[in-house]
Amino acid sequence: MNPHSLQRIGVVGTGAMGQGIAQIMAQAGLNVLLFDAREGAASAAREQLAATFAKLQEKGRITPQAASEALEHLQVVNSLQALAGCQLVVEAIVENLEVKQGLFRQLDELLDQTTVLASNTSSLSITAIASVCKHPGRVAGLHFFNPVPLMRLVEVIGGIATRPDVIEQLQALVKRVGHYPAISKDSPGFIVNHAGRAFGTEALRMLSEGIAPVALIDAVLRDGAGFRMGPFELLDLIGLDVSLPVMESVYRQFYEEPRYRPHPLLQLMQAGGHLGRKSGQGFYRYEGKGAAPRWVQPVPQCPQLPPVWVAGDDDIGRTRLLALLEHLGAEIERGPHPSAEALCVLASLGDDTAESALRHDTDPARTVAIDTLLELDSLRCLMVSPATRMDMQNAAHALFSADGGTVAMIRDSCGFIVQRTLASIVNLACDIAQQGIASVADIDMAVRLGLGYPQGPLAWGDQLGATRLLQILQRMHDLTGDPRYRPSGWLRRRARLGMSLCQPENLMPA
Ligand code: NAI
Repeated sequence: MNPHSLQRIGVVGTGAMGQGIAQIMAQAGLNVLLFDAREGAASAAREQLAATFAKLQEKGRITPQAASEALEHLQVVNSLQALAGCQLVVEAIVENLEVKQGLFRQLDELLDQTTVLASNTSSLSITAIASVCKHPGRVAGLHFFNPVPLMRLVEVIGGIATRPDVIEQLQALVKRVGHYPAISKDSPGFIVNHAGRAFGTEALRMLSEGIAPVALIDAVLRDGAGFRMGPFELLDLIGLDVSLPVMESVYRQFYEEPRYRPHPLLQLMQAGGHLGRKSGQGFYRYEGKGAAPRWVQPVPQCPQLPPVWVAGDDDIGRTRLLALLEHLGAEIERGPHPSAEALCVLASLGDDTAESALRHDTDPARTVAIDTLLELDSLRCLMVSPATRMDMQNAAHALFSADGGTVAMIRDSCGFIVQRTLASIVNLACDIAQQGIASVADIDMAVRLGLGYPQGPLAWGDQLGATRLLQILQRMHDLTGDPRYRPSGWLRRRARLGMSLCQPENLMPA
């Protein structure tokens, strides 16, 4: 079938999402029929869109002709029967399986069987929605993100009965409206809401382990790892009323897979009405429209710095650390063992400082560990063991701040802040690739566009080094006993064979 045959589109449910979907389709020259069960809602949506087109014209983003043509492409209809003649109907009604099934049953009966039926659901199974239809092959997911015109990603989801040509038609349509179609299997959270589970849940684990306050964890991930927002800022922005049901739903749908496990703290916060920005209090307190507070750790005075002895778990980390210490003008001990005065700095991967001190045979009272997964130019994260003396902590803090760089001091935990977060994100993406939920290219693109991460997780994993990430996960798994850190087979095999994480399987699935 000609992919451009999807020319006449019905949109059912003209709330926030339905309007956005209608907008980009009308702007792409498609004829859109708007229907909503609530009287007057579809007309109000058309009026709202007329105002949007006028505003875009005013700002010079579209020509007056494009504005009037887009509006002409929008037509309000008062019944589902009026959608006959559409080649595609996109549903964007309430997120409730029975209600959606009720609508799809009606559409399946009313509309010619060549009409493609798509749901914008973000959490329900496409297969379950299609199961009430006589022709489930024509049902697919078309998951847009909010706000639709700005979020250029659409997950195109095939249920177990969806016909391949339906996916192809939807893929072509998404490209036609200028968005990126990421093809996903019908799997809990599809790609984005699945891949996004590591960031927040790992931050909650760190908080519960008491290794650092909220603002410090956010700052390290934002300023040290390049995320636009820290995980707690993000949770506050989305609101717990929205994010907690998604977390719980993905966790339950995967039969309580520990990788997706939320944290009981969220239940407590929800019960106390600490939903985030919208309630004035979440992980941060919001006065007026004020931003989340920044984090400050004052640099201690330390006129007499001790010599420094260095060890590391790999060459990259050790080299990075030595280069920084030379730049800072530190007195570096080069002997095989530290002197009795030396501050011992360990470039550890996956260990906590206590374990790292034992591994490298250093005095825990004089040992700190430093995260060298990333470059050390912007931010240095130092981790102390429970035995590290205060004077040694202060000396390390002062030394690593000597060039004006920012130092984050944290308590002992396996894998620092950045290592454990990035290793978890990459590991999860590897698992998604292993399960064949989406292609490597679509996983990376969906995460970049849908979650705004600085890189796609698989390409990022290659850049960080799959072998280093594997070591981090293996040690975290060994030391914590928590199965959430078990390395994905996709990651382990590629790391062990020295292959790229972006390398798909050579053998085609049977
Ligand atoms: P909304 O509440 O703004 O709009 C829903 C609209 O559907 C309302 O106008 C309502 O009158 C209408 N409606 C309800 N039941 C209906 C029925 N049986 N027949 C026809 N119209 C009906 O909701 P929103 O935010 O636009 O979400 C719609 C869908 O999109 C949900 O399934 C949601 O999960 C999904 N979604 C929402 C995102 C978001 O950020 N809001 C992001 C991605 C997906």
